[in-house]
Amino acid sequence: MLRAPILYLSHARWARSFITRFGLARRMASRFVAGETIGDAIQTIQALNARGINATLDHLGESVTNEAEATRAADDYVHALEQIHLSQVRANVSLKLTQFGLVVDEGFCARNVQRVVEKAQAVDNFVRIDMESSAQLEATLRIFRSLAEHFDNVGLVLQAYLYRTEEDLRTLVAACARLRLCKGAYQEPAAIAFPKKADVDANYDRLMQIMLNQARAVPPLGHDGRFPPLPALATHDERRIEAAKAYARQINLPRDYFEFQMLHGIRRELQDQLARDGFSVRVYVPYGTEWYPYFMRRLAERPANLWFFLSNYLRR
Ligand code: FDA
Repeated sequence: MLRAPILYLSHARWARSFITRFGLARRMASRFVAGETIGDAIQTIQALNARGINATLDHLGESVTNEAEATRAADDYVHALEQIHLSQVRANVSLKLTQFGLVVDEGFCARNVQRVVEKAQAVDNFVRIDMESSAQLEATLRIFRSLAEHFDNVGLVLQAYLYRTEEDLRTLVAACARLRLCKGAYQEPAAIAFPKKADVDANYDRLMQIMLNQARAVPPLGHDGRFPPLPALATHDERRIEAAKAYARQINLPRDYFEFQMLHGIRRELQDQLARDGFSVRVYVPYGTEWYPYFMRRLAERPANLWFFLSNYLRR
């Protein structure tokens, strides 16, 4: 019931300026965000690497409305890739196209992202393009496809809540695209997305099987903590994870031919258990000052977080 209103607040400007004034909101967000600087993020990644877990770094930001800000976003990612290279942590990067100017101009955005992909290529690293709301989907696919024609170090995210995803996924799998599958974090109408969680979950399992079949057909080429194997299964849902483990066993797929991905601050013990059991695990590590919409999506996924934080605060 709370998901839709929280997601509405995640992009309402008035709500952002009101809610971010509270120190409590910032403290709540810090559970999900590694810190404000690249140095904070590298420290978090070093701790993850020490636990046998890889990372993907996200410099928070989205819905940028001018070229100067979008160019700065690309500069920041180039800098982050240099820092990953210098510190030798096992991490790649994830980015959002609306942070790179997608709503300003698609061609400009594509060139801006290409600069980051080229930098990643120069330091032997990988760029994952996150999937945003359905309003951006077609343009995101176009930009991904045009980059993937020239670069093999770029991957994309697909969302199991959309009806169209199975078709998109089959086409991309046939082209050997590196994909991350998630359930989907935005507010979408029933005309294009499964309204019921049970249907999203069932679709997730169906799509997972297609991805693992791809992994068996095309073994990973020397992935090393930066380059991910072809399929990445992003979820904290134990049932989805168990289904993936069972299917991998059924088709005799080695544990390092795919990876599980989770978000920083969520289900840490499950991350550790999977890593101990010999699965590849990667944690999404966001950092920066633009934490508001990211944080609100985390609240929308689990509104119980809100009561948890508020009751802890009131008890102090
Ligand atoms: P589900 O929501 O069913 O949660 C399963 C269990 O996980 C819960 O019972 C709870 O224990 C725990 N959990 C989940 N969310 C939690 C939270 N916020 N706080 C505390 N516990 C929580 N989405 C998108 O649209 N585009 C994208 O590019 C990405 N990228 C992405 C990368 C990675 C690495 C991950 C893990 C997720 C994304 N997502 C995303 C978000 C994704 O679409 C989805 O909203 C969340 O992962 C929550 O869904 P689950 O699959 O975890 O299942």
